[in-house]
Amino acid sequence: MRFFIDTADIGEIRDLAATGLVDGVTTNPSLVAKTGRDFIEVLKEICAIVPGPVSAEVAATDTQTMLSEGRLLAAVAKNVVIKVPLTPDGLKACRAFTDEGTPVNVTLCFSAAQAILAAKAGARYVSPFVGRLDDIGADGLDLIADIVEIYNAYPDFTTEVLVASVRGAAHVVESAKMGAHVATLPPAILRAMFKHPLTDKGLEAFLADWAKTGQSILDTKTNGTANGSKSTRRRA
Ligand code: E4P
Repeated sequence: MRFFIDTADIGEIRDLAATGLVDGVTTNPSLVAKTGRDFIEVLKEICAIVPGPVSAEVAATDTQTMLSEGRLLAAVAKNVVIKVPLTPDGLKACRAFTDEGTPVNVTLCFSAAQAILAAKAGARYVSPFVGRLDDIGADGLDLIADIVEIYNAYPDFTTEVLVASVRGAAHVVESAKMGAHVATLPPAILRAMFKHPLTDKGLEAFLADWAKTGQSILDTKTNGTANGSKSTRRRA
């Protein structure tokens, strides 16, 4: 499963990209508004930090203006993916961008029927919003299961399932079990995925026991490399 991060915050993107775990970035108008910065400048910076796909969403609602906005956004960098809403105009724009060779992320998907339309419009990604479905008492993960099943039944559907509106690690784990291609994670959720109390406890105990040995792995007196007496060759 690939991980995108769901933010337009350059500091967060830089920090998390350094983990080597970030395959791409998704933004939306709300995330860009939070930065208080110029969209094109922010987009340029994100694309320079992360070489993978960076989704940039159009703000227009009619196909023609979506196409003009999307072409402008796509010119910012080679890794820009144009994000359009799952509306008739959005899907017309999706087809046009796809035919031009520009990848599209169809966003605001809340049903399997919509996901079928996105695939037929040639979307590179469809973004089902699991968290927002959970918020209204539906089961967002059921939608992921349905879309994965449907797409798997039709090998000519090349659209990837990009799990969006992720609220916790369980959304990621369950979607991964279903075979969803990508999850886009708010930074706090990616950070939370590292954590387990037994990891912290175990590490604390190992460090305490290690301190008792009085040794330092980097100290050449104790690692045996000072006089070349021990081989540094690795064993498989
Ligand atoms: C990403 O592409 C979506 O815009 C985002 O995941 C929506 O998340 P939210 O429901 O937390 O706003």
